[in-house]
Order: sequence, then structure tokens, then C-alpha cells
Amino acid sequence: MRQPLVAGNWKMNGSKAEAAELIEGIKAGSGAVSMAEIVVCPPYILIPGVADSLAGSSVAWGGQNLSTEPKGAFTGEISAAMLLDFGCKYVIVGHSERRALYGETDELVAEKYAVALEAGLVPILCVGELLEERESGTTEAVVGRQLDAVVARVGIAGIARGVIAYEPVWAIGTGKTATPDQAQEVHAFIRERLAKADAGVAEGVRILYGGSVKGANAAELFSMADIDGGLIGGASLAAEEFLTICRAAN
Ligand code: 13P
Repeated sequence: MRQPLVAGNWKMNGSKAEAAELIEGIKAGSGAVSMAEIVVCPPYILIPGVADSLAGSSVAWGGQNLSTEPKGAFTGEISAAMLLDFGCKYVIVGHSERRALYGETDELVAEKYAVALEAGLVPILCVGELLEERESGTTEAVVGRQLDAVVARVGIAGIARGVIAYEPVWAIGTGKTATPDQAQEVHAFIRERLAKADAGVAEGVRILYGGSVKGANAAELFSMADIDGGLIGGASLAAEEFLTICRAAN
């Protein structure tokens, strides 16, 4: 039995005041979510405040990215140890925005995943195809390649210690959600591919769906056999909407 997980990726959004209000709202409603794990991933600079507010609650928090380096002259970067120092449990790696806008390659993403694991963070590995890749029928080749790079780096045992998020790029921030069947098809593909290396790991690893998940479509998506929760962008910025999604995963 895989514990459902709903993670909010705030991306580059929120002020101190907005974060405080959002966190109070999420905390207030989190009591009604006993089965599913709730995680928020604020921008780095808001993590200390969020950590203080969430300490002792059932809601966990994480980073949206990390450096592969442990410390030193890497201006603008944040290390795994720094995230841990502020109580982060999770860290997102390989988000499509990092891949597309900041040139993160499969190899770099795999290295970040490995560094997160070694430090004791739980990496949330994002994979997903572009619209043109879906339309040209290469979705499985792309997602398989993204996944294989990480398996090659950390082994199948490393996959067991993380979380996977399938986020079709064409569904991110577009309001165009994958249908439950479209998402399920790729989630099942991911699990089958992992099962070739280790059936137990494939069965146990959580695979989240991300891409225009809202309160109104979450329950239908989460009812699919291989969808274990969601990675939520825009809809994670409003407490009631995010909680509706969390309850759907519960
Ligand atoms: P939206 O929910 O805004 O489509 O974003 C999804 C996402 O990229 C989460 O990481």
C-alpha cells in the first residue's frame, strides 16, 4: 500500500506575508487529511519562515532544487546540507522548468538526485515529455531516457528511496490536464520499466502526476491505479484549493 502524497511546488511565488497566510490555512485544514502526506516546496528564501510555522505539524516541506556541490564558491546556489539544516525532508529535482530554462541535462538531474539521497533528503524526480514529443509518439522514449539516467546513477535501490513525478510539459500551467487515462498510461509504463529491474521497487515507489491539477479534477486523476498523488503548481498557492486536492488523495 503506497501512502498518497500531495506536494505543492510554489515555484517563484509568494511574499513573507502570503506564505504565512497560506501555511496557516494549510495547517488549519491538514487535520482532515490523515492518510495522505502533505508537502510544500516554497522558494528558498521563504523556507525558514515556513519551517518555523510548520514545526510540529504533520505537513512536511522541501526545496525546489539543490546544488550538486556541498559548499564553496558557487554563487547563488543552495546545498543539500542547507536544506536539511532548515528541516527540509524533500527536494524536487529535474523539474521541466529547470531542464528547459536552466539547461539541466539528464546527467545533471541524476547527479542532483544522487546528492539529495546521499544527504538524506527524499528527491522528487520530475519526468515528462514536450507536446511535440507526445505528438510524434516518443513519450515513452523520452520518459524512459529521463528515468534510466537516474537508475544508471543510483541503481534501482536509489529509486526506492525517492518519489517520481510524471509531469507532461504541455500540461504544466496550461490548464490542459492530461486525461486520467493518458496519465495512467505513462504511470503504468514507468512502473513496468522499473519492474524490469526490481518488481518490489516498482510496486512500492510513489508516482505523482503533475500538470494543471485542481480541486475539480484531482479525485478522478488520483483514482487511477498507478497515480499516487500529485505535484501541484498554481493550485498549491491557495489554501482551500490545495486542501481540496489533498483530501482527494486521502
Ligand atoms: P501547474 O499545476 O501550475 O500546472 O504546475 C505543475 C507543476 O509544474 C508542478 O511542479
